[in-house]
Amino acid sequence: MRANGQERAADTGASIAGRGIKKVFGTGPSAHHALGPIDLDVKPGEFVSLIGPSGCGKSTTMLLVAGLEKTTEGKIEIDGVPLSAPLSEVGIVFQDHLLLEFRTAIRNVMLQQEIRRLDRQELRERADALFEKLGLTGAENRYPWQLSGGMRQRVSIARALVHQPSMLLMDEPFGALDAITRTQIRHDLEMLWLETRKTVLFITHSIEEAVGLSDRVLVMSDGPGKIVDEIHIDLPRPRPAHLGDYPDFAQYAQRVYTTFEKLGIYKFK
Ligand SMILES: Nc1ncnc2c1ncn2[C@@H]1O[C@H](COP(=O)(O)OP(=O)(O)OP(=O)(O)O)[C@@H](O)[C@H]1O
Ligand SMILES: [Mg+2]
Repeated sequence: MRANGQERAADTGASIAGRGIKKVFGTGPSAHHALGPIDLDVKPGEFVSLIGPSGCGKSTTMLLVAGLEKTTEGKIEIDGVPLSAPLSEVGIVFQDHLLLEFRTAIRNVMLQQEIRRLDRQELRERADALFEKLGLTGAENRYPWQLSGGMRQRVSIARALVHQPSMLLMDEPFGALDAITRTQIRHDLEMLWLETRKTVLFITHSIEEAVGLSDRVLVMSDGPGKIVDEIHIDLPRPRPAHLGDYPDFAQYAQRVYTTFEKLGIYKFK
C-alpha cells in the first residue's frame, strides 16, 4: 500500500511528473533561488540521470521528489497523485553512505524492516539475496568501519532496495569511490535494475556514469538550474565496462561536454 493510499504491484516502478518546479530557500534579502523552474517527467521503470554543475540544484531536485523539501512553485505528482508528504515507497542512496556505525551491515539493511514494521523473515531473505547480488556475502556481520568505501555504498544500495520501493533516488552515490570500483558497481546496479525495473532518478557529475547507466540524461545549467538538454541513450544493455566500445558513446558524451561549453561552465584558457 502506498503512503497516498494507492495500491500497486511490488514489481512496477512509479512515475514522476513535475511541472514548473521551483525552489527558493529562505525569504527576504537572504532568499536563495536554488532551482528552476523545471519540468521533470520520469516514466515507470525508466532510468533517468540528472547531470549538471555543482550547486545547480540536483540534490534539491531529489529532495523535492522525495517529498523531503517543499516546492516554492509548481507541483510534483507521483503516480498521478500530488506529493504532499515525504514519500514512503522510496529508496534513497546519498553520496555519503549514511550507515549507522553501531549496526552491522545486515542490521543497517534490516532497519527498513524495523521502521516499516515489515515481515522479518521475508525482509531477511530479500536482504540475503541482495547481499549476494551485490557481492557482499560474508560481510553481513561487519560494522561499517570494517568495510571498504565501495562495500559501504553497496550496503546503502541494499538498504534502499530491500523493502522493494517503486522508486530509487540516488544522489551521486559513487562519487567517493575509485574508478575501478565505480565501474563494477555501475554494472551491478544496472543488473539489479534490469531485474527489478524500478524507476531510478540518478544524480551524477560523471558523464560516463550518466550515459553508461541511463535511458535518458537530463542536462542542467548553472544554478538556479534549468534542464537545458535531454538525451535519449540508445545503447544495448547490459553495457560493457569500457563504454568506448560503442561508437555512439563518444557522441553522447560529446553532446554533454558541448552543452556545458556553450553554457560557459568550463573555463579553460
Ligand atoms: N537548505 C538550504 N538552504 C539554503 N540554500 C540551500 C539549501 N540547500 C541547498 N541550498 C543552495 O541551493 C543551491 C543548490 O544546491 P544543491 O545542493 O541542490 O546543489 P547540487 O546541484 O546538488 O550541487 P552538488 O553537485 O555540489 O552536490 C546551492 O547554491 C546551495 O547552496
Ligand atoms: Mg548535490
